[in-house]
Amino acid sequence: MEKRATFGSKLGIILVSAGSAVGLGNVWRFPTEVGANGGAAFILIYIMCVLLLGVPLMTAEFIVGRKTHKNQVDAYRSLSPGTGWWLQGAIGVFAAWFILSYYSVVAGWTLQYLISAVLGRVTTMTDSAAYFTSFTQSAWMPVVMMAAVLLMSHWVIMRGVQGGIERYSKLMMPFLLLIIAVLVVGSFAMPGTGEGLRFLLRPDFTKLNGGVLLSAMGQAFFSLSVGMGCLCTYASYFTDDAKLMKTAGSVALIDTTVAVMSGFIIFPAVFSVQEVAPDAGPGLVFITLPSVFQMAFAHAPLLGWVFAVMFYLLLLLAALTSMMSLHEPVTAFLIERAGLQRRAATSVVTLSCIALGTLCALSFGPLKEVRFLFGMTFFDFFDFISAKIIMPMGGVLLSIFVGWYLPKKLVIKEFTNNHTLRFPRWLFVSFFFLIRWVAPLAITAIFINELLF
Ligand code: ALA
Repeated sequence: MEKRATFGSKLGIILVSAGSAVGLGNVWRFPTEVGANGGAAFILIYIMCVLLLGVPLMTAEFIVGRKTHKNQVDAYRSLSPGTGWWLQGAIGVFAAWFILSYYSVVAGWTLQYLISAVLGRVTTMTDSAAYFTSFTQSAWMPVVMMAAVLLMSHWVIMRGVQGGIERYSKLMMPFLLLIIAVLVVGSFAMPGTGEGLRFLLRPDFTKLNGGVLLSAMGQAFFSLSVGMGCLCTYASYFTDDAKLMKTAGSVALIDTTVAVMSGFIIFPAVFSVQEVAPDAGPGLVFITLPSVFQMAFAHAPLLGWVFAVMFYLLLLLAALTSMMSLHEPVTAFLIERAGLQRRAATSVVTLSCIALGTLCALSFGPLKEVRFLFGMTFFDFFDFISAKIIMPMGGVLLSIFVGWYLPKKLVIKEFTNNHTLRFPRWLFVSFFFLIRWVAPLAITAIFINELLF
């Protein structure tokens, strides 16, 4: 069995965790949620959700992982011997495996668009909607691209904790942040800046209702990777002097900044060529933006090319660092529970995700007619099971485990690095109040809302 590794530096710890959080959820999901749900009013609610729920839950995952230095199943088992709590760890492993399988499909689309952007196709295609449909419906290209991004993640995970995850996160994350900064400046130079910023930032409090609050919470959990099992596994590689609360706060700050900056990139660009509110989700980045790049830079095609290449590279990097954090929990479980070598464990995860991902990738084309529960395709089914069932369930169980089951003394000891860090008393009182009461009730509300409406 491989000797258990740790991350080598505090900066590495923040960058790997931020890499897990910053993903497709920030770049396309957040800006459209903001636009549709009251602009700055939504951003305010979102920030409250991040601070009051996201940061405490992230800290709780860190506590379980760092306290035990084990894969999730063994982490829960060793903190609660002889009980069924190990199942909570198993749920985390399962969530990561399932999410990785369908997340890779969309990550594969970003690779396809990056290649197309480099070849100059994104900025010259005549019908971006037709291009997107013919690509996603094709019988093999989405599968090839999905497998290619999984192999990239495989390549990193196979190199281990320090030599793989930490090393490549330290390379990719600063590069990703640099691309964002350049794109924000570029987007602000476009003629639609004022309108785009108004669309994103106009606080419309009339749009706020219970549904919007729940969307903000759901977005915060997805974006911070809470309840997916990633943070607990990453924390099992944290050193004993890592500051858990500070790391959670830094990750939340980076993640929220990237999400807001993505809105600053997308909307001024969109409003520079059209006056209507853009499509949401995949339509925005794969259909609307290619025509935006084309029209906005009609007089400077080279600039349009640079903008498109940088944008899809940003998406791919964001997706890849999140994929690595989903790959590792399953790999660590196979290494430590099934006794596999890292190379074999990584291969099992990659190959099984390619198999499941193929079903998801083809569910836009040849397998479109294969339907389950409520007429869902494979892709919808994987998304539904992991994001709408397993993640909230994992979140509620995590808050009960850390808030109610674990001895308070143990939690405080871990939180304060064995009483070497000083925190004001109100911080512990708030932490326990949020973890014990607010988090389980709020997540249950999201769960029921997502399931029923
Ligand atoms: N947290 C990752 C994202 O936002 C999964 O995409």
